Amino acid sequence: MKIFNEDLGKMEKIRHRGAELSVWIKGDGKNSLLFVHGFPFDHEMYRTSCEPLSDEFRVMIPDLRGFGESRFLTGLEENGGVESSGGSIEGAETGGEGESRNQGERVTMGEFADDLIALLDHFQIDKTILCGLSMGGYIAMNFARRYPERLAGLILCDTNSHPDPPEKRKGRLQLADSIFSTGPVPLPEGMIPNLLAPETRSNAPETVRSLREMILRQSPRGIAAAARGMADRDDSTPFLASIPVPALVIGGEMDPISPPEGMRSLANALSDARLVILKGAAHLPPMEVPAAFTDSVRSFARDVYRSFI
Ligand code: MLT
Repeated sequence: MKIFNEDLGKMEKIRHRGAELSVWIKGDGKNSLLFVHGFPFDHEMYRTSCEPLSDEFRVMIPDLRGFGESRFLTGLEENGGVESSGGSIEGAETGGEGESRNQGERVTMGEFADDLIALLDHFQIDKTILCGLSMGGYIAMNFARRYPERLAGLILCDTNSHPDPPEKRKGRLQLADSIFSTGPVPLPEGMIPNLLAPETRSNAPETVRSLREMILRQSPRGIAAAARGMADRDDSTPFLASIPVPALVIGGEMDPISPPEGMRSLANALSDARLVILKGAAHLPPMEVPAAFTDSVRSFARDVYRSFI
C-alpha cells in the first residue's frame, strides 16, 4: 500500500517476517540515507532534521517493527486467512494477536537489522549510508558487522558498542514485564530529563511535547520486545575496527546516556571515523539541534558519495 503526498514524503508498507513495516521516504536522489530511530520512538524523531536532506538524497526513515506505524501481523494475516501454528519472532505466541500481549517475546538487534535489509531490497538499493541513534546505533553496528557490503557509510549517534551491565539488563527485563500493566504512561517523566538538554526543556516546549506524544503512542508489545532484544545484545566493540566504510560519530554535548567521552572512544575504535559533538543537545540531537544535525550528516554524506564517482 502507498500513501502519496509528495510534499510530506510518503509512507510505504512492506511485509517482512511477521510484520508490516512502515517506512517514510522522500527524495529521489540516487544516493540514499537510511535513519534508524532509538527507543521508544518512531520515524518522527528524525523528520525535522532529515526532511531537508531529501533535496539531495533519497531519505528513508522506517518505524522499527512494533513501533510507530509498523505492526506485528496476526497469524491469519501472515497466512492469507489460514491460522498459523507458529510465530516468526522469538517468544511470540502462536496465532499472534497483532498488537496484544506476547509474554517473553523479543526482537533482537539482528532481526531489526534484517528488516533494514528487506527495506533496501524492496527499494533495490545496493548500498546506503546507515545512521542509527542509540538503540538505532546498536542495530546499525549489528548491520555493519553482518552486511558490510550493503554500506556506503555509517553514522553512529549517541550510542555505544557495549552490552548492558547486569543492573541495566535487569531493569530492561523488568520494564518489559511491567509495561503491559502500566502502558507507556510512566515513561516520559522518567526519560525526558535524560533525553533532552536543560535548554531544550525550557526553551523548546514543542519539542518536549512531540517527544512525550511519540513515547506515549508506542505499543507495550513493541516496547517490551525491543527492551528484551537490547538486554540480550552482543558486544560490538571487537568488530568496530573492521568496519570497512567511513563513519561519522555524533554526540550531544550534554548527553548523560552516551556522554562525549564515550562517543570519542567509539570514534577512536573505528578505523575511519570523524567525531562531531553538538552543542546544546543531550541524547536527541536530531530533535534538539536539527539544523546542526542536518549539516553534519549532509557534509559527511557528500564526502562519502563523492568518493563513489
Ligand atoms: C535509546 O535512545 O534508544 C535508548 O537510550 C537506548 C537504550 O536504552 O540503551
